[in-house]
Amino acid sequence: MDITFAKLSHPSVGGLITLAAENAGLTVTAVQLDRKMRGALKRAMEAEKFTGKNGQLLVILAPAGLRADRVILVGVGKGKAFDSGTAERLGGHVLGKLKSLGMRHAALAADPISGSALEASDIAAHMAYGASLRGYQFDRYKTKRPKASTARLRKLTIMTSNPSKARSTYKPLAGIANGVFLTRNLVSEPANILFPAELADRAKALHDDKIKVEVLMPTKMRELGMGALLGVAQGSAHEPRMVVMQWQGAPSHADQTPIAFVGKGVTFDTGGISIKPSAGMEDMKWDMGGSGVVIGLMRALAQRKARTNAVGVVGLVENMPSGTAQRPGDIVTSMSGQTIEVLNTDAEGRLVLADALWYTQDRFKPRFMVDLATLTGAIIVSLGNKRAGLFCNDEGLTQQLMAAGEMVGEKLWPMPIDDTYDADIDCDIADMKNIGSGRGAGSVTAAKFLQRFVNNRTPWAHLDIAGVTWSKKEQMLVPKGGTGFGVRLLDRLVAENYETQ
Ligand code: BES
Ligand code: MN
Ligand code: ZN
Repeated sequence: MDITFAKLSHPSVGGLITLAAENAGLTVTAVQLDRKMRGALKRAMEAEKFTGKNGQLLVILAPAGLRADRVILVGVGKGKAFDSGTAERLGGHVLGKLKSLGMRHAALAADPISGSALEASDIAAHMAYGASLRGYQFDRYKTKRPKASTARLRKLTIMTSNPSKARSTYKPLAGIANGVFLTRNLVSEPANILFPAELADRAKALHDDKIKVEVLMPTKMRELGMGALLGVAQGSAHEPRMVVMQWQGAPSHADQTPIAFVGKGVTFDTGGISIKPSAGMEDMKWDMGGSGVVIGLMRALAQRKARTNAVGVVGLVENMPSGTAQRPGDIVTSMSGQTIEVLNTDAEGRLVLADALWYTQDRFKPRFMVDLATLTGAIIVSLGNKRAGLFCNDEGLTQQLMAAGEMVGEKLWPMPIDDTYDADIDCDIADMKNIGSGRGAGSVTAAKFLQRFVNNRTPWAHLDIAGVTWSKKEQMLVPKGGTGFGVRLLDRLVAENYETQ
């Protein structure tokens, strides 16, 4: 989908979209349209009891006096409450409507809204951003052109009095959207195409965004003693990889210590020898979601030229059962030197992250580490698909993450990690076991396991994104499928707290 900015006009397009604040006068464009339609817009508003409540839509088909097929009036709610986030969600909402109407071309008039702190160019840019996030489609494997009824929107023109100003506000937002799209693409790829080496290659493309990308091969990982990660990988015909990405955007006078993001990248999780039931196993192609977010986030930070130094580290493996696979009861030695009894080969994500977290902390001594992982089914039981689980050893970082999540609508909920849960993973014959003793709180024991690979001087947060990485239904800013949850959240975390002015 193409999004362009242009001057206000009444083009002969499929859909002509105009805004209306709640119980307020019509915008300039709406007044002009109503006049051309000889009052039909106002009559339709009355007939449909259109008040301009946020999200309310009024579609007028084949409007007399106009070339457009439809005029669509969109309620923005109270002018005072119309902020950038509301504009983004509304842009997504409008795009959802255009999609369901099967429209191919549309133009939206972004007039100023009285009472709102937003300038018209802000409204234009943020609505465009929301529309682009919702308009994403993964159609790489569609070989036939879509039927007319499901035809996709080709071009959305956002009309505003100052298109060049809107364009410059939109530019960094488009950079973030590109990060989200990269994540969604990666998460949507099937596991026969996207195995560890291929995912590493896709990460290498970040080179074009001026990100330094290193790929650690198995030999190097063996040298470093990453026995936990390698144990998971050993059952697969595909070799593991670890990818290290560095974005250096901090100005020279700034603190150069990087912030760090770490992702679980299990390109397919069969469970290994502790094999999963077959129903729904196809979902485990998105068990690399955490790594997908880290890769997409790096692109977002680079494309909007964030004034910060950030590293992203992803551990990439495929978890398969085979003659060479790890067995329940095997004991592995992690890079940290700590030993782990692998009682369940399906609790593999924590094994991968154990070495990825340790490596990141050891090499970069970062200001903080945030890891993301589709780690436990138990977090879906706890929080469903509305919020991701937040496990954190630092009060300040907790607050920053919670706030960022609320701002962008990628919400978190704090979960406990106090030490009373820790004994659950103590083991009789090794330093720890990779599952709890079966007393519930599966997401917490998983987090406690990870914490054993983080020193207590490093602020660390773990986001369990198992419930939010894939969406079975459309949301305001998210079509069905891979959500990219985490990219906008962490981008905002950085923007609000970790950029040098
Ligand atoms: N990748 C799964 C977690 C998961 C489940 C993600 C469903 C998304 C949807 C993870 O590797 C796993 O298998 N976890 C086990 C842990 C258990 C064996 C302690 C689980 O949650 O059942
Ligand atoms: Mn598993
Ligand atoms: Zn997994």
